[in-house]
Amino acid sequence: MKSSSIRIGLLGCGNVGAALVHLLAEQHDSVERRTGLNLSIEAIAVKDLNKNRSIPLSDEIFTDDASSIVGNPEINLIVEVMGNIEPARELILGALNSGQPVVTANKELLAAHGAELYAAAENSGVDLLFEAAVAGAIPIVRPLRESLSGEPITRIRGIINGTTNFILTRMAQDGASFDEALKEAQELGFAELDSTYDVEGYDAGAKVAIIATLAFGVEVTSEDVQHEGISKITVDDMKFANQLGYCIKLLAVAERKANQEGRSEVGARVYPALIPLSHPLAAVNGSFNAVFVEGDAVGELMFYGPGAGGRPTASAVFGDVIDASGNLQRSHGALIGALDKPHMIPSENLESAFYLNLKVEDQPGVLAQVTEVFGNHGVSIQSMEQEGMGSEARLIFITHSSREKDLFSTLESLRALNVVSDVDSVLRVIGD
Ligand code: HSE
Repeated sequence: MKSSSIRIGLLGCGNVGAALVHLLAEQHDSVERRTGLNLSIEAIAVKDLNKNRSIPLSDEIFTDDASSIVGNPEINLIVEVMGNIEPARELILGALNSGQPVVTANKELLAAHGAELYAAAENSGVDLLFEAAVAGAIPIVRPLRESLSGEPITRIRGIINGTTNFILTRMAQDGASFDEALKEAQELGFAELDSTYDVEGYDAGAKVAIIATLAFGVEVTSEDVQHEGISKITVDDMKFANQLGYCIKLLAVAERKANQEGRSEVGARVYPALIPLSHPLAAVNGSFNAVFVEGDAVGELMFYGPGAGGRPTASAVFGDVIDASGNLQRSHGALIGALDKPHMIPSENLESAFYLNLKVEDQPGVLAQVTEVFGNHGVSIQSMEQEGMGSEARLIFITHSSREKDLFSTLESLRALNVVSDVDSVLRVIGD
């Protein structure tokens, strides 16, 4: 097979960038044998030239001037793994506008400015590939763009943040504290530099915005995503959930529904939820991710694998590099297509079952008062457990699916009752 040289410019050389350099060195010959692509990293732009990176490339390859790589005719393809929005956005636009295909792992950027970048790629007729931006090593972007592009997808539920899944697993299985588990996730290289981005659901929010955009062909940004994090989850909630046959996971949900007038509306949310132990997502532990796709024609599909960490993420970047290099040779590109503006599901139309953990006085008539409040707001109780705590009792309710706004007014009325001393937790519950 005739060999074609593809000279790569790398923007950023952190955890993922360094792992990509190693992977490329290890796999270079085998990739060349199979594909005829002779891939080489020609330049790496970094912020700090003095940092020791222990990668098998000479020092001359590093520059602190990213603009010397972008638009440089000696560089055939740009890989952006620097993160953050600027200057990544400007550099990627510059590369695409000058005809350089781009591979990026930058979820934050795509979730904020995806439509602008996809349009720039389309205008220039070059690739913008981003498999690593969602769920690390798991192939989900390409299946949504290609294999499932004709599928009427109704809902996607995913565990798409490795750090929070690692923390929740360590708390549930080993009784670790939140802080201990977070520290471990940071040491293992799963967490973002600012771990609030993981813990409060921003990271999963960015990823679910990208998922919803691809799945439904509408321009969903991270600002459209409602997100809640895991910082209020306690080991006690996990214990109660488990007794009732559930585990607790940080879930990202993208869904499309027709409203009463038949107009298609899209929802994109992130929240911690109780998941039945029998559901395939309940078996996703540690830093693993999974994306559960539901569609009218395919039924249910689940994609599962390592969702964070330098080497797994670099594997997804590397696959895109090979794909984009091949497309460069064949002069064809993978495009997203036209995106519509979304109609987001209004919050008054959202429905869910809920788990409520209340502390109440342990006296005659208390249960009747509490359950009356649920009834008054039209919220139906599916199950209730009581645990004695001396003069107080803990009540754990699971409701049937109700309008979220009815549940929130139930909570307000419960908090106003003298016999309720605390509403300790309120979490959504998903069905089988
Ligand atoms: N911090 C991210 C996570 C890394 O924990 O999933 C992968 O995007």
